[in-house]
Amino acid sequence: MTNRRHLISGIAGIAMMAFTGHAMAQDVVKVGLILPMTGPFASIGKQVDMGARLFLAQNGATAGGKKLELILKDDGGNAESTRRLAQELVVNDKVAVLSGFGLTPLALAAAQIATQAKVPQIVMAAATATITEASPFIVRSSFTLPQASEPMADWALKNNIKKVFTVVTDYGPGIDAETSFTNKFKAGGGTVESVRVPLRNPDFAPFLQRASEAKPDALFVFVPAGIGAQFMKQFVERGLDKSGIKLIGPGDVVDDDLLEGIGDVALGAITTQHYSAAHDSAANKAFVAAFKAAYPGTRPNFMAVGGYDGMRLIAEALNKTIGKTDGDVLVNAMKGMTFESPRGPILIDPETRDIVQNIYIRRTERKNGEIYNIEFETIPMVKDPVKAAKK
Ligand code: PHB
Repeated sequence: MTNRRHLISGIAGIAMMAFTGHAMAQDVVKVGLILPMTGPFASIGKQVDMGARLFLAQNGATAGGKKLELILKDDGGNAESTRRLAQELVVNDKVAVLSGFGLTPLALAAAQIATQAKVPQIVMAAATATITEASPFIVRSSFTLPQASEPMADWALKNNIKKVFTVVTDYGPGIDAETSFTNKFKAGGGTVESVRVPLRNPDFAPFLQRASEAKPDALFVFVPAGIGAQFMKQFVERGLDKSGIKLIGPGDVVDDDLLEGIGDVALGAITTQHYSAAHDSAANKAFVAAFKAAYPGTRPNFMAVGGYDGMRLIAEALNKTIGKTDGDVLVNAMKGMTFESPRGPILIDPETRDIVQNIYIRRTERKNGEIYNIEFETIPMVKDPVKAAKK
């Protein structure tokens, strides 16, 4: 009798364990976050990660009745590592979503895995226009370089800039920035001379020397987030800060993370971008305050916002699907999604899965003792012009 009771309670215990184990597995949605946390592009990874985690901390890390579990992996900025980590996250960890992707080659390295495994790939940082065409499972929460660079050409034309020298990093986003700016600027009557600088270990000095000799009205610059300080140091060493040549370009070169370190030489730069930590809205003030409280001594830049909004896209999609995690169902839930981000209103274009957002024209200024990009004009709800032109 005693033995039997033991046996029955033993079986019930095992059944109970199996049940709770099963329920727990079902209640967790794993999200892989692959970022360069080390190496020359670590500042991008750190900002995206801080943004993504802040969203989860503020929202209790649950969505659609499930608990969200973030699994962070460091690819060191190496595309082969990104591909391998994406594969491991899908096969071993059984993540429902892949996210992060600090640079264009890293986003492209995972696209085939997203397609084959039918797992949504949320691109939170990389910004070459064509990335969203690499897989029907890609949705982007960052931006595209042409989205920011075309409005820069319009501003330059309107502001008596006739001759521009462009310096861009020689890979997807730099080529996008150069091409979209040049086409628009030349169509409006401007002239352009261009150079491209290597992505790895760039030495800007010889290119800046050429730029200085060309005596343009403005220098248009694209370097990836985190690299602007290096660029600006050499800009000063070549005396370009005293040359009267205006600094213009997409906002990456004066990213919020670097501005204080760059110092006064950044003052007066005119840039176009989708996010400034000084963006004047209640949503952004709350975001910046929460970010600084969570991570003392930091300031969010546009990469942090890409991580924050990317997590929000994932959470809101799960809310819409009531926790269903099939890849195509989640991607469909993200199509057409719209909300107010710290950057302003955003929309996921249902046709391209790319982000539609305001682009702001900003002047780098000192405000309350700190250096910020102060927005003074808004171009509302800009679509990626490269994909728009293909239609
Ligand atoms: C990219 O590699 O796509 C990229 C990285 C950093 C940026 C912009 C684009 O600031």
